Amino acid sequence: MNLTDKVIAVTGGGSGIGAAMCHRFAAENPRSLVVMDLNGSAAERTATQISESHPSLAVYSAALDVSNESELLKALDQIQARDGVIDLFVGNAGIGSGVGVEGTNDIWRSVIDVNLMAHVYAARALVPTWLERGEGYMLITASAAGLLTNLGDAPYSVTKHGAVALAEWLSVTYGHRGIGVSCLCPQGVRTPLLFPEGEADGDLSEREALALNVVRAQRILEPTEVAETVVESLRSEQFLILPHPEVHDYEVARATDRERWLATMRRIQSHLDPASGADQ
Ligand SMILES: NC(=O)c1ccc[n+]([C@@H]2O[C@H](COP(=O)([O-])OP(=O)(O)OC[C@H]3O[C@@H](n4cnc5c(N)ncnc54)[C@H](O)[C@@H]3O)[C@@H](O)[C@H]2O)c1
Repeated sequence: MNLTDKVIAVTGGGSGIGAAMCHRFAAENPRSLVVMDLNGSAAERTATQISESHPSLAVYSAALDVSNESELLKALDQIQARDGVIDLFVGNAGIGSGVGVEGTNDIWRSVIDVNLMAHVYAARALVPTWLERGEGYMLITASAAGLLTNLGDAPYSVTKHGAVALAEWLSVTYGHRGIGVSCLCPQGVRTPLLFPEGEADGDLSEREALALNVVRAQRILEPTEVAETVVESLRSEQFLILPHPEVHDYEVARATDRERWLATMRRIQSHLDPASGADQ
């Protein structure tokens, strides 16, 4: 996919990977770029920075909650009325929870709504128009947790597996009708999701800290590095985007010998989990 002269909308564009993608997409000279985020002022900040560096670019911001289907639909309608059909929709907003099955239903539901249902809502809204005109592209930010698992965070692991499955389903179902799909699955990236502000004040539970520490023990990439890989991979319309190529080896190991992979993951968990009584 060539991003030049395309209408692009990115959710979670106010911070981290989403903001870095918006900055990198701007360099490809799209027709319009819409930065969307729950945090409206963060979205506006990204859009303003991009306007300053690319004064001739049509860049907009929108405050919306992607887990609210009617808000998302309204925002997509507004964009398409102003800029024309969205060529590339990037469903990137995501949240972690740091809980296991003991997490409340409200926590589970909010993670499911943001990390999974938001992609369903976007696809439901955009796919019919894309089918009519025979083209359209969706990039879903899942995670390496969607191919492997995320120790310490059950809703995150489950919903990211769901996001990968949805991306695969969309690609398989509509690929032959001109709809492109990519699924971004990074491991650790230096963003507020992985390095939350409240951490220094001891705001995190043991399990939340465990979930973050496991990821932080791996190679951490900068959001700009992820954005660069995304643009390269979109150019060749690659489905699975792995900014950490080693994730492919882990996935192969998991698929080749699931019992052995699970035993390794259990061992890591037992060493990290203070409640297990294992040696640290
Ligand atoms: N940082 C990592 O290590 C890492 C690794 C793998 C995958 N990811 C995924 O990358 C994506 C971006 O995360 P990030 O690391 O840049 O985090 P981040 O916290 O820096 O950015 C996420 C953005 O999403 C926004 N957001 C959250 N809920 C929203 C909602 N309901 N509606 C609209 N916007 C909402 C937030 O306001 C924030 O600006 C997420 O899907 C995350 O799961 C991150």
